[in-house]
Amino acid sequence: MVGQWADFQYEIYLNGMTGAVPRLPTDLTRLEELAEHRLGPGPVGYVAGSAGDGSTARANRAALERRRIVPRMLRDVRERDLSTEVLGRTLPAPLALAPVGVLSIMHPEAESGAARAAAARGVPYILSSASSTPLEEVAEAMGDAERWFQLYWGSDREVTASFLARAKASGYSVLVVTLDTPLLSWRPRDLDRAYLPFLHGVGTANYFTDPAFQAGLAKPVHEDPNAAVLRFLALFGDAGHTWPDLEFLREHWDGPIVLKGILHPDDARLAADAGMDGVVVSNHGGRQVAGSVAAADALPRVAEAVGDRLTVLFDSGIRTGDDMFKALALGARTVLLGRPYVYGLGLDGQAGVDHVIRSLLAELDLTMALSGHASVATVGPDSLT
Ligand SMILES: Cc1cc2nc3c(=O)[nH]c(=O)nc-3n(C[C@H](O)[C@H](O)[C@H](O)COP(=O)(O)O)c2cc1C
Repeated sequence: MVGQWADFQYEIYLNGMTGAVPRLPTDLTRLEELAEHRLGPGPVGYVAGSAGDGSTARANRAALERRRIVPRMLRDVRERDLSTEVLGRTLPAPLALAPVGVLSIMHPEAESGAARAAAARGVPYILSSASSTPLEEVAEAMGDAERWFQLYWGSDREVTASFLARAKASGYSVLVVTLDTPLLSWRPRDLDRAYLPFLHGVGTANYFTDPAFQAGLAKPVHEDPNAAVLRFLALFGDAGHTWPDLEFLREHWDGPIVLKGILHPDDARLAADAGMDGVVVSNHGGRQVAGSVAAADALPRVAEAVGDRLTVLFDSGIRTGDDMFKALALGARTVLLGRPYVYGLGLDGQAGVDHVIRSLLAELDLTMALSGHASVATVGPDSLT
């Protein structure tokens, strides 16, 4: 792994000798603006939009920007190793692609395109329950590459058990249970356009192909799609779940279980007490609770509370390699990347996602080198001010 990720910069400069330049910006914070110009207002509004006036999404960025790296010198960083152990597996870098539903609104390659890009770089792909492609099809696109399944924990136990059995049978190794979305929040960018893809049967592929879901319909999905959409809406979320209910998931999943959407250290302790394997400190990219604590401000307290009992993952606001560095320093073992890869997909399909992954990890690798770290293990709280 010697300098592997950072070498992307030389590849770009060498290609430049024939006049070629990258098709997408290498400053990944610029992708959103480009997507706003090039993609349709409904889809891009769905991806870029947040809860309420967007204050949580802004706070996520501000909390990362406020923290500053303090580089160290003369520490021999010629050979660097970004690999990390997470939930019993070795990853080539501390990165996974976050679960993002409905990717067909961004590009026809949708989840399969993003998953193939992740697989090609050894980055785990986390498939959303609300994907526009059935989980079996995405698994097939990935070969034997690392994939995790994200569950929206709905109100129908049979459908939930069926999802878990299908995910297991298709080689998904880790279960990521998203707790922060029992209901959709107040999202003005979607509300102002009355834009909700699920009502058109987009983002419902796992449900519509599920035998337990189909068993609750009077007619096959294609004969009465409206009835299928109504059943989906009725069982998608369940605001009645409580901590003891996790037992049901444990009974139906024998691999690692990670709870996504944890922000309070007491909830992280409850997750550990419930026998979970990890948490994702996340506020869903500011898409659920406007006025919420920034994810990076919640991270150190959660890591301090349970870092020795649980694997602590992080998302919400990661845009650059230095953001990743900061999240690792604040206590995350691995970082989930959300919107930037979705913009990459929308702008250039699988190749766009590949560009985003390589740019991000090249920047992380260089940030580590130039801050005096040859391995992620030495990045910690005193790497920041
Ligand atoms: C368009 C969109 C769809 C999403 N869909 C899901 C989903 O289906 N399941 C889930 O757990 N999280 C979902 N998320 C949240 C992401 O997994 C992640 O927490 C979030 O994108 C992190 O914020 P950031 O992208 O601003 O860094 C979605 C996020 C976006 C932007």
